[in-house]
Amino acid sequence: MSTAPAAPTAPIALPPLANDRFLRACLRLPTDATPVWLMRQAGRYLPEYRATRDVAGSFMGLATNPELACEVTMQPLRRYDLDAAILFSDILTVPDAMGLGLSFAAGEGPKFAKVVRDEAAVAALAVPDMDKLRYVFDAVRTIRRELSDANGVGKVPLIGFSGSPWTLACYMVEGGGSDDYRLVKTLMYQRPDLMHRILAVNADAVALYLNTQIEAGAQAAMIFDSWGGVLADGAFQQFSLAYTKRVLSQLKREHDGHRIPHIVFTKGGGLWLDEIADSGCDVVGLDWTMNLCRARQITGDRVALQGNLDPNVLFAQPEQVREQVIQTLDSFGRHTPGCGHIFNLGHGISQFTPPESVSVLVDTVHEHSRTLR
Ligand code: CP3
Repeated sequence: MSTAPAAPTAPIALPPLANDRFLRACLRLPTDATPVWLMRQAGRYLPEYRATRDVAGSFMGLATNPELACEVTMQPLRRYDLDAAILFSDILTVPDAMGLGLSFAAGEGPKFAKVVRDEAAVAALAVPDMDKLRYVFDAVRTIRRELSDANGVGKVPLIGFSGSPWTLACYMVEGGGSDDYRLVKTLMYQRPDLMHRILAVNADAVALYLNTQIEAGAQAAMIFDSWGGVLADGAFQQFSLAYTKRVLSQLKREHDGHRIPHIVFTKGGGLWLDEIADSGCDVVGLDWTMNLCRARQITGDRVALQGNLDPNVLFAQPEQVREQVIQTLDSFGRHTPGCGHIFNLGHGISQFTPPESVSVLVDTVHEHSRTLR
């Protein structure tokens, strides 16, 4: 474990918000209650989401329409007392803009028309023109307008996001989802030179994409390394973490005089928590396999923690959801100066989740966490 720097003492400028709990927790400033938002909070478990997607015709039709993307971003905030909004989009918009041709067949996962598996395909890769992703930045601006009151004060902050270079590479090489990561790992072990070139292009594309989201109004930036945890020790550091760091080193830390927190979520990354905490991010996202007290001991006051309830808890009875939420909050423990916790699930919410379970979760987080101050 490395020595932790002291908690920030200089005043940190936060944007004007009616509710700034999320940003405060990201920056390890005191909060009255623990902020909460959920990965995939806008999604198929909400009937109003499914109705809007039907209007758009498809998932990509929805994601590329800034008004409809704004509408679905706002839907979970109308139902629940959430402390942050997350841009409605997908991590795969970046490889799509690189010309790989993304589609989502109804009821199936993502598919790319072109894959990146040989020397010629790797040589053809380049950081895409951000104009191809204009619909994302237009959605960011539309959502920020929708979140603002007449005086320009936001209801809650808006989180922008991207996939990590490694997670994007998994989809670009496999051509879609995978159970065994055979093709991407074959390329990694047989032709590490080609893999490093894909990851370098992805890192620079992700950095530019996130910085453009920040300039459009995203108030925090999250990197989803959903498949970092499938790598072997050693390979993780070389092929995933090194390129997440390459992104972080290029990200804007401030915009309009306000601090922009950077969040890194590596699913299955608990074993490498100490190294991830040294990556230069402000917040580390954790999946449900990690104990928050143990994570806090490892990270000290280097970073805030985000997580980490098992999404399947939401299939239990309301009283059981309540108990599990309390257990997660208690595992983080009492708040002390320089610590920060953002409550979330350990991965995205399931499409089969009963919407009522989410109310129980959100209300329990706010209520119980006040007793831990
Ligand atoms: O969190 C939010 O509410 C914001 C929206 C968001 C989506 N995808 C919307 C979406 C975010 C942050 C993502 C990230 C994403 N997308 C990740 C990283 C996080 C994770 O879950 O690990 C990954 C790996 C993807 C790739 C992806 N997109 C897959 C594998 C799928 C299909 C399978 C599935 O779980 O649904 C998608 C489609 C997708 N992205 C949906 C949503 C709401 C469902 C599509 C639909 O509405 O039909």
